[in-house]
Amino acid sequence: MTKTINVGLLGCGFMGRTHSNAYSQVNHFFELEYKPVLKACYGREQDLEVLKKFQKMWGYESIETDWKKLIARNDIDLIDVVAPNFLHHDMVIAAAEAGKIIVCEKPMAMSLNEAEKMVAAVEKAGVANMVMFNYRRVPAVSLFKQVVEEGRIGKPFHYRAVYNQDYTISQKVPQGGSALWRLDAKIAGSGVTGDLLAHSIDTAEWINGPIKKVVAYTEIFIKERPHAETGKMEPITIDDACMFLAIFENGSIGTFESTRYARGRKNYSSMELNGERGAAYFNLEEPEYLQFFRYADPDTGNKIEDHLTGWQKILVTNGEHPYMSKYWVPGTTIGYEHTFINAMSDFLKSIEDGTQFQPNFRTAMRTQKVCDAVIQSAKEGRWIEI
Ligand SMILES: NC(=O)c1ccc[n+]([C@@H]2O[C@H](COP(=O)([O-])OP(=O)(O)OC[C@H]3O[C@@H](n4cnc5c(N)ncnc54)[C@H](O)[C@@H]3O)[C@@H](O)[C@H]2O)c1
Repeated sequence: MTKTINVGLLGCGFMGRTHSNAYSQVNHFFELEYKPVLKACYGREQDLEVLKKFQKMWGYESIETDWKKLIARNDIDLIDVVAPNFLHHDMVIAAAEAGKIIVCEKPMAMSLNEAEKMVAAVEKAGVANMVMFNYRRVPAVSLFKQVVEEGRIGKPFHYRAVYNQDYTISQKVPQGGSALWRLDAKIAGSGVTGDLLAHSIDTAEWINGPIKKVVAYTEIFIKERPHAETGKMEPITIDDACMFLAIFENGSIGTFESTRYARGRKNYSSMELNGERGAAYFNLEEPEYLQFFRYADPDTGNKIEDHLTGWQKILVTNGEHPYMSKYWVPGTTIGYEHTFINAMSDFLKSIEDGTQFQPNFRTAMRTQKVCDAVIQSAKEGRWIEI
């Protein structure tokens, strides 16, 4: 019999939409014991009109303008934190103390210090918890992980991650306010490191194992911007761009690059791993493809036939590819929103099975630790051990 899980959503912006869509769609594609019900959503009093429109469009039963009140409600089973980063800590701690199931957007916290307290709170409460690193659940990225686990890359040498955008090049873009709170350090914590590289770090450690140490450089190209709330010019203190070198525990070495000043790039998140027996490459601007270079047989280590050596561009839409049997027929693609549906399905299944979803808060704390080390390294100009 289907059991319901009543959802309380804290925030009604971009991620409020992707998560609401996932709750609405997940039972249409995946057979699950649990079915989310869109019970209540929260927005600030000053955003009341936006909140009401959001409620109507997504079909929430009720609204709240006080998130503490929403968390305290007895008819809410799951709290989903899709608010700006500075609110994650307080919202998660309150939800854990109220015994709710918790979903939280990345980056999980403003700092490692906050993340540690959040992990302690969810573990003390013993509640199911997850951090939304949805890019693990792009079928081609899951396939990337699979080919690594099958030994098809062999001994890894190089990991290369890029996450570039271009929407802050204009001096006129303000800091603060809807979506642009990302440029305000008090609200976001860090810049591209927490916002974009957190995804790259989570995927890198999932695919290639723990990072041992990092050395970083960050840049602020535009030193002050008007603040959307005060109208005054205020200094920019988040990292506009970040580049770091990483040494992995398995001996491979990595480069990570992220900026919001890469003219032409919109959401270009790519990763490549080069090993002794092969290589793999993925790029989020062509999410249906995994590129794979086969050099040697994973079992024997023998080089494959010379005339077959070369990059294969695999269209990841077959039933045997991760998640794809749940959607359409081979050759038809799925999109960005399905990464959230896939994550939600795996989370609900983990609740059904009594297992830990990955990444849970404890795993995501690793990413926070690497992000903090990157920022510290850029400030101090030296290698930092994780
Ligand atoms: N997993 C992903 O790929 C992904 C993508 C984008 C954002 N995120 C994360 O999701 C979270 C939300 O980001 P978003 O893009 O949805 O932001 P957004 O600006 O689109 O929406 C934020 C919501 O919080 C509300 N809000 C804004 N400032 C507030 C404040 N001071 N107090 C209370 N509420 C406030 C807004 O009204 C809005 O409802 C962030 O942590 C972000 O890093 C994750």
